Amino acid sequence: MITLGIEGTAHTVGIGIVNDEGDILANVSSSYVPKEGIHPREAANHHADTVSSLISTALKEANITKEDIDVVAFSQGPGLGPCLRTAATAARSLSLRLNVPLVGVNHCIAHLEIGKVRTEAVDPVLLYASGGNTQVIAFSRGRYRVFGETLDIGLGNMLDKFGRENGMSFPAGPVIEQKAKKGKILVDLPYSVKGMDLAFSGIMTAALNSDAELNDLCYSIQETTFAMLVEVTERALAHTRKDEVLLGGGVTRNKRLQEMGEIMAEERGSSFYVPDGELCIDNGTMIAWTGWVMYQAGMSIKVKDSGIKQGYRTDEVDVLW
Ligand code: ATP
Ligand code: FE2
Repeated sequence: MITLGIEGTAHTVGIGIVNDEGDILANVSSSYVPKEGIHPREAANHHADTVSSLISTALKEANITKEDIDVVAFSQGPGLGPCLRTAATAARSLSLRLNVPLVGVNHCIAHLEIGKVRTEAVDPVLLYASGGNTQVIAFSRGRYRVFGETLDIGLGNMLDKFGRENGMSFPAGPVIEQKAKKGKILVDLPYSVKGMDLAFSGIMTAALNSDAELNDLCYSIQETTFAMLVEVTERALAHTRKDEVLLGGGVTRNKRLQEMGEIMAEERGSSFYVPDGELCIDNGTMIAWTGWVMYQAGMSIKVKDSGIKQGYRTDEVDVLW
């Protein structure tokens, strides 16, 4: 059985094709690069312009034809309305044309499911840090629950905004990572963990108003925000009594964050998993795989029920699989 997944929650439109074993037959994507902050309409136009040629490319890469597709999955939310609508429209029309089931996938859960199938993780605590999202997620009592999350902006968006104000190209996360390596002095920035939740905008304001040298600021932003992420992840491990840490989301490609996460996991006697970089960022493969897993559990939907969910919560989904 073959599932095609369409991701389109934010900057990236991605097509993934997987078989029922979780082998990746194709994984292609195209990203809208904003000049200023992300403009949802422009990103959606980019997705509309590229989605059908991406589907053709993915089919070619997988060496199959449309008729070989058994299930179509799409990112139903959370995300930016116009982007979600574009991906959903493409998925609906493909499913109708091929007369195959349609599955709506929660994007955050997909980050976790792809990590589970592509690593040895079985029942992990997921540290998911991307542009728009920052959450610590784990399975508990029939659902994936959010144990901690950002109260304001996603960490990646904060890094990108700080970078933009300092003349860095987009996305700024990798640029900040390189500059941080040259930083030596830890600048005092507001460490803000509130209960299990996190806040980043105060750190950004403090960093933007600081006179410190740029490399030192990059270093300090990373050390401070990553320590916050790792602290909340560790508390979620303790609370859930789980012993596996899984990373997901573009920010978790950062080697320093991986190092800090791994040290924490090791000290607790927990295992630590990072999926391939291509699967950490937004991708169609994670949507395809999660769609397949959900389809098997009877979770396909009718087109009339396939409306997008901009504020789709991780813990709204009954995990029947
Ligand atoms: P979503 O929030 O819907 O998951 P996104 O488009 O932000 O969407 P990703 O592709 O997962 O999703 O992540 C992009 C973010 O990751 C950007 O903010 C980028 O700056 C950040 N990023 C990428 N590489 C690194 C890195 N090496 N270090 C820190 N941040 C990084
Ligand atoms: Fe994501």
